[in-house]
Amino acid sequence: MSVKEKLQELISEAKEKISLVQSVHELNDVKAKYLGKKGSFQEIMKLMKDLPNEERPMFGKLTNEAKQVITNYLIDQKQLIEDAKVNEQLRSETIDVTLPGRSFEVGKKHLLTQIKEELEDLFIGMGYSVMEGPEIEIDEYNFEKLNLPKNHPARDMQDTFYITEETLLRTHTSPVQVRTMLDNKEKGPIKIVCPGKVFRRDDDDATHSHQFMQFEGLVVDETTSMADLKGTLLVAARKLFGDKREIRLRPSYFPFTEPSVEVDVSCHNCNGKGCNICKGTGWIEVLGAGVVNNNVLEASGYDSTKYQAFAFGMGVERIAMLKYGINDIRSFYTNDIRFNKQFK
Ligand code: DAH
Repeated sequence: MSVKEKLQELISEAKEKISLVQSVHELNDVKAKYLGKKGSFQEIMKLMKDLPNEERPMFGKLTNEAKQVITNYLIDQKQLIEDAKVNEQLRSETIDVTLPGRSFEVGKKHLLTQIKEELEDLFIGMGYSVMEGPEIEIDEYNFEKLNLPKNHPARDMQDTFYITEETLLRTHTSPVQVRTMLDNKEKGPIKIVCPGKVFRRDDDDATHSHQFMQFEGLVVDETTSMADLKGTLLVAARKLFGDKREIRLRPSYFPFTEPSVEVDVSCHNCNGKGCNICKGTGWIEVLGAGVVNNNVLEASGYDSTKYQAFAFGMGVERIAMLKYGINDIRSFYTNDIRFNKQFK
């Protein structure tokens, strides 16, 4: 076989091999097999020494041409492999922009938080500040400075989780009144609302929960009166239950207020005609309030001959239950997502 034929054979063999290669890594192996230090061409070059001098240039020319042909195959195949790789990547990464998006649920605020924030906004708009206090309270602030000395019978109204003899889980938000008055160094006017969790030793049932939320208000100034209290609560009642609501005050008793009142709102369900929600009376009791007892002012360092105050406290669950017809207070705390989701 002539050199020319040998080279021709080598070229077609290489062409076939190269065309089957699928990866750059493999391609390098094939390249080494033909063009490398121990490759086929090294073998062919060895034949040169046996050739007569005049044939050598031709031999050199032919082998170089053959090398070039194989090198070109290698370059072309490499390009093919790389193109295929890019195309494959493009195919696998295509995004169908017409597919509908995956929906995910957006969380909502708990109903109690919603009502709390609604009330906060209302009162902030009337110049009040929002105050918070600790849930673990001392007896002195939860009771004594609110005119409820030890052994006062009215303590029975609020069955208490005691931690020690002097510390307890607060039974109402009223100790925040005490804290705010004590903290006020100038003993000047105060206008606050205090939302928060409170705790009582009740057996849980549809209308009782050992934890619930209160929303308290306190205004201390030189001229506050029962009329201011009534006007303020009318605004709050209308915000919560609608523009047409009226309120009425009934005499009541709280140790920390004198006089004390229970506040009723005209029924939002029947507009005061009488229905099962208002038990036929046309009125619904929503909160307790009153003119702050002088003892309470004095216990926190206020001069009760100069200052007058009014206060009120309401249960947020009760308001939510009335407003939305919820008949079990435990629904607020068992966190059934189907319950929570209903209130946007
Ligand atoms: N602290 C009372 C309770 O938990 C509610 C209350 C009544 C608060 C009258 C007040 C108020 O500030 O003046 O039953």
